[in-house]
This record gives sequence, structure tokens and C-alpha cells, in this order.
Amino acid sequence: MQLWKGRFKKELSKTTNDFNSSISFDSRMFREDIEGSIAHATMLGKCGIIREEEAENIHRGLLEILSDIESGKLAIDMEAEDIHTFVEGELTARIGDDGKRLHTSRSRNDQVALDIKLYLKKEVRNVRALVEALVKVIADKAEQYSDTVMPGYTHLQRAQPITFGHHLLAYAEMLLRDIGRLDDCLKRMDEMPLGSCALAGTTYPIDRDITRSLLGFDRVTNNSLDGVSDRDHCIEFAGALSIIMVHLSRFSEEIIMWCSWEFKFIELDDAFSTGSSIMPQKKNPDIAELVRGKSGRVFGDTMTLLTVMKGIALAYNKDMQEDKEAIFDAVDTVKMCLTAFTPMLDTMRVIPENMRRAAAGGFINATDVADWLTKHGVPFRDAYKATGELVARCIELGLDLESLPIEEYQKVCDVFTDDVYRAISLEYCVSQRTAFGGPAPENVRAQAQRVRKIVE
Ligand code: ARG
Repeated sequence: MQLWKGRFKKELSKTTNDFNSSISFDSRMFREDIEGSIAHATMLGKCGIIREEEAENIHRGLLEILSDIESGKLAIDMEAEDIHTFVEGELTARIGDDGKRLHTSRSRNDQVALDIKLYLKKEVRNVRALVEALVKVIADKAEQYSDTVMPGYTHLQRAQPITFGHHLLAYAEMLLRDIGRLDDCLKRMDEMPLGSCALAGTTYPIDRDITRSLLGFDRVTNNSLDGVSDRDHCIEFAGALSIIMVHLSRFSEEIIMWCSWEFKFIELDDAFSTGSSIMPQKKNPDIAELVRGKSGRVFGDTMTLLTVMKGIALAYNKDMQEDKEAIFDAVDTVKMCLTAFTPMLDTMRVIPENMRRAAAGGFINATDVADWLTKHGVPFRDAYKATGELVARCIELGLDLESLPIEEYQKVCDVFTDDVYRAISLEYCVSQRTAFGGPAPENVRAQAQRVRKIVE
């Protein structure tokens, strides 16, 4: 079924119809399409562009269609060109001529721009809530493991001792920025495009502010060409979703490593792991791997949107119909990933002994040896060099810095006293890193509380 029959003498070929149609993916916006049409008809009635009774008839008819679709009584016709065509056709079939007045002073161009914004505004909030739930789990775990010592890494080489809670809270910071990006994106997309019509506004005495307030937008779009041809909100949302996926993917990568026998810092719950069809011993972190893998989809969706939009002259072009599959896929994927990831994290078993054991190797307190010397008057560069020599001596003797005899220390630098051993115990090293933003257990507890407060 098409809305634009008048000037055509032939029917669309089946293949053209299928190629042109968007109903298979835009039907999910039926609520927003109906909500937008109700607001539009109400405004037309209030402004005297159609009669009040006609507006009321349209309103009633649309509500019935909505409830019939929701209850399953009315199936969306997949032969319709798009959801806008379907709803308008169904309305006219139900209420007759009044239904034909609905599209007065409107185009599918501003209609679809509206529908997407209405739809995405809800989805931004949905994604935001899921991110918040994850941040909350992270804050709880961080508090629980605020004094669990683990190796901190650079270049994936053991670097300095940190606490597991501190490590986790790094992800909370990323996700809090993600929440900020979602909020910004929501603020910018909160502009109501209806009234832009096809591209050049309208000669009817419409009141766009009525429609705006009925639909709960903050403001109306200022330029009719931009109103119908802007998809920044899709791109920006996809961008924010992509960055969320970068964060989830990095987190997943660490979880995958931590689950390996080489690390064994954590074990995932059976409910969030899978086995192998051939190797009976296997327990695989498939969820984390899938999240890591699915980041590619979301980045691809963002690239699709950028590419679709980059070369099209103002205003609407059919290319823009390609926006929906990309942004819907990005939203669906991120929601799915968050929904799987959060309980996986929540139920993981943390193995502090293994973290502690890993932290004991690799001379991760070497900086603290150098710092000890510095605090006893040795310039840092000299202290650094002396400590390097001590590490080399440890490697020769098969010892670590804690077990290297004090005589060896003193051979390298006579400032050393027995006192150094206390300063390089890992628990002590970590407890002293109290500078703001550091891994000391008391810092971690304070940060966990701060983070939790933000999302609660
Ligand atoms: N299905 C179309 C889309 O998603 C709706 C707008 C159609 N407008 C038009 N002038 N053909 O973009």
C-alpha cells in the first residue's frame, strides 16, 4: 500500500516494493508514530485547521489501533511501505474520511524524524539505567575488595601494587562518563521537528508549541530543512554507545584473562559460563567474549550512520531510511551486552589469594624501594639506579626484594637499614598510596561510596 498513488499509472514491482519498504524494521516505532499523530491531530484541531470533532475521531481511532496492536488483535501489515503508511491506512479504514485529514500540514519526512527522536529518547534512558545498574555493582564489589592487593600492570607487565577495588573503580569512572555522554545526547536531541513538513514548513496556521508540549519535548527545531534532514542525534547516540562498548570490551578482555589458569584471579559463575563439546574440563567465559566481539557491531553501526549521512544534499533523501537499522542494532546490542554483563560481574567469585600471589612476583615494589631511599635523602634518579641493581641481584640469587638480605642492600647503597622491609611489604605499599585518586583501601572505600551515591 502506498500513500503517493495519484501521479502513478503502474503498480510498483514486487522487488521494488520490497527494496523500498522499511516496515520490517520501522514497525517497532508504532507507539511513537501513533503518539506523534495524536499530538499532531490535536494541534490541528486546536488551531482550527481541522474541526475539533475530526481531531477527536482521529484521536479515538489511533488509540484503538494502538491498543489493538499491543494486544495482538491487529497485526502490522508487512506489505505496507512503512509504519507511517500502515497507521494512516488503518486509521482511514476504521474511521473513514476523517482519517484522510490527519496528514494535513505534515510529511513523512518530519513524521519519521519525530518518530525516531521519540523512540531514541526512551532508549537513551533505558541504556542509561542499565549503565547505572552496572556502576552500582562495580561500586559494591569495589568496596568489598577495597584492600585486596593485586598487581597493577602497564604493558601487561607487573608494575606496582594496587587494590582490586581500585582497579574495578576505574571502570566505574569510564561508565560515569558514558552516563554523562548519554545525558548530553538526550539534551541535544530534545527538539521537536514536526511542522518542518516535507522540507519547507507550511502555510497552515499551525502552532508547533502545542505539539511540542504534548509530546514532551524541550523545544522545537529552528529550521525546517534541518528539522527533517538532521540525524546527528542518531550519530551522537551511536557514538556514545560505541564508547560504552569500548569500555565493556576492555573490561571483558580483563575478565577473560583473569579467568584463565595463568591468572585465576576470578572465577565466573556457572550460570555465566559455557563448556566445550569435546574438552570436558573447559569452562569458557563466552559472555565476556561475546561482549568484546559485539563491540565491532556497534562501531560498524556508527560507521554506517556517518557514511549514510556524509554525502547527501539537504533535505530528506531516501538514504536516510538506512539510519534505523543501524541505530536500532546499536541500541539493541548495547542493551543486550549490559543485561548479560552486569549479573556476570555481580556473581563472579574473586580469588584474593591468587591476586596476592601474583603481586608477590615481578618486583612490583621496586618503586617503593627507590621511594624509601628518596625519602632518606637520596636523589630519585640515584635511588632508581640503586634499586635497578638490587633487582638484578635478586634475579641472580633467585630472591625477591623482601627476601634479599640487608647486606646486599647495603652493598648497593649504605643508606639502607632494616626499616626498608616494612616499607616494601605490599600491604604497606598500597596503604600508603593515599594521594587523592590512588589505590589505598581508605581511598577506594570513599570513592566507592561517592560512585554509589551518583547512581542511586
Ligand atoms: N520510511 C521512510 C524513512 O524511514 C519514511 C520517510 C519517507 N519519506 C519520503 N519522502 N519517501 O526514512
